[in-house]
Amino acid sequence: MHPLNILLVFMIIIVHSKSQIPVLIPHLPSLPPLPTIPRLSDLAFLQNVDYDITAIFQKVQTFYKSLPSTVKEDALLAVSELVRKYGYPCESHSVTSSDGYILTLHRIPSSKNHQRDKLKPAVFVQHGILSSSADWLIPGPGKALGYLLSDAGFDVWLGNVRGNRYSRKHVWLNTKEPKFWDFSFHEIAVYDLPAMIDYILNQTNQENLTYIGHSQGTTVFYVLCSEKPEYNDKINMQLSLSPVGYMNHLLSPLMHVLARGEVPLGILASLIGMNEFLPNTKFLAVASHYLCSDISVTQILCSNSYFAMCGFNQRQMNSTLLPVIMAHNPAGASTKQFLHYAQEIKSGKFRQYDYGSVENRQKYNRSVPPDYKLENIVAPTYLYYSRNDWLSSEIDVNRLAARLGNLRGKFLVSDPKLNHVDYLYSINAPEVLYKPMLMLMKSSGLVDL
Ligand SMILES: *[C@@H]1O[C@H](CO)[C@@H](O)[C@H](O)[C@H]1NC(C)=O
Ligand SMILES: *[C@@H]1O[C@H](CO)[C@@H](O)[C@H](O)[C@H]1NC(C)=O
Ligand SMILES: *[C@@H]1O[C@H](CO)[C@@H](O)[C@H](O)[C@H]1NC(C)=O
Ligand SMILES: *[C@@H]1O[C@H](CO)[C@@H](O)[C@H](O)[C@H]1NC(C)=O
Repeated sequence: MHPLNILLVFMIIIVHSKSQIPVLIPHLPSLPPLPTIPRLSDLAFLQNVDYDITAIFQKVQTFYKSLPSTVKEDALLAVSELVRKYGYPCESHSVTSSDGYILTLHRIPSSKNHQRDKLKPAVFVQHGILSSSADWLIPGPGKALGYLLSDAGFDVWLGNVRGNRYSRKHVWLNTKEPKFWDFSFHEIAVYDLPAMIDYILNQTNQENLTYIGHSQGTTVFYVLCSEKPEYNDKINMQLSLSPVGYMNHLLSPLMHVLARGEVPLGILASLIGMNEFLPNTKFLAVASHYLCSDISVTQILCSNSYFAMCGFNQRQMNSTLLPVIMAHNPAGASTKQFLHYAQEIKSGKFRQYDYGSVENRQKYNRSVPPDYKLENIVAPTYLYYSRNDWLSSEIDVNRLAARLGNLRGKFLVSDPKLNHVDYLYSINAPEVLYKPMLMLMKSSGLVDL
């Protein structure tokens, strides 16, 4: 689960219906009094937004042109432009899953900081829910994992799963059809990952690759290797950042509120419907400009509701990155993905989607969904977790670790305050996380770096 995106939803709610905020407040820990949101009237046209992307795009572009342009350039660049802006090559590859989704893989094939005659080993990096390949790039060269992997000599492949802004095409469906959005992380795992992994291995002419995932990016890996064990052989090592399998001990009060289906979920459901969870548009860049730019008093709101969702690590949060982070997230997901996670939080199980006993019998030939077979995961697996991660608790990580078929290492990140999204954006992530990971990969003997 990507809490930052919940914040975005939160912001959308602010924009849509300020009156609902007081309902949320009692559920949040130590939130300061809500500051007034400046110039909300400027966003008045958003009141009737119907999430028709093209229409919003035009409206927002007109609106955006009239603004003094202080929204960060990085917020508005798509991933391939962003990467090239910083002097790295970037390729976009289209891959079609066996059930027809057309996915985009972003590739950084080389780095000017690392020349090498030998074949570069492939690394496949998979983002979390509602997110995209931008996750691995936002802090920029020398800081973001995508660039560091490239500098270390990897052939870097950044995945984008069905439904996000880079993977919204399908051979016979379009995003307006509910059928397009009828998937949870299970389908991402059993259709998208095999397509992307096989494509990368084919393109690079390699037999195996290194898999790095964050949050849902770890969930889908566990599901893949449980359900399609033949994929274990294609992974030389797997690194899980903020492992998410079992979820019933998560700490985030807001997520508990959401999972319990109390008021906020009702608000969300009426706002978002049952198909797509939320689209990414330039509108978000504008909204986050208003709600999260450094000069705005809403900085306080952003920081605090943000931390309210995923833990407190104020010292390591680079607030100038917030507008950029907000503009790239959320990048799109289905409501069913969230429901599947909500089921995990409630049931304490790591298992397939629960359709109710009648439909379960048709789908699974039993009244309850089958558990994922974690002992099938025999690719070498390394877990990185933190005690301040509100969406991946130590208890749940230990339960997961105990069942994995080939756990090679379980590392508590040295910064005790690292929270869920600090894995991606925090100022000290290179120091406390990425450098140790690179050292591990070099010394493991599993990757030819
Ligand atoms: C890659 O895919 C192409 C087309 O499907 C196929 O012809 C080729 O043999 C594959 N290459 C490898 C190394 O698997
Ligand atoms: C990965 O593939 C290489 C050949 O490209 C092979 O030598 C190596 O043993 C494989 N590693 C694993 C863990 O399967
Ligand atoms: C915070 O982000 C800005 C914008 O990318 C960057 O210029 C600055 O160096 C970052 N600060 C730290 C402490 O990393
Ligand atoms: C469904 O489950 C029953 C009882 O476990 C079993 O006897 C039967 O063979 C199963 N049917 C199918 C189609 O797998």
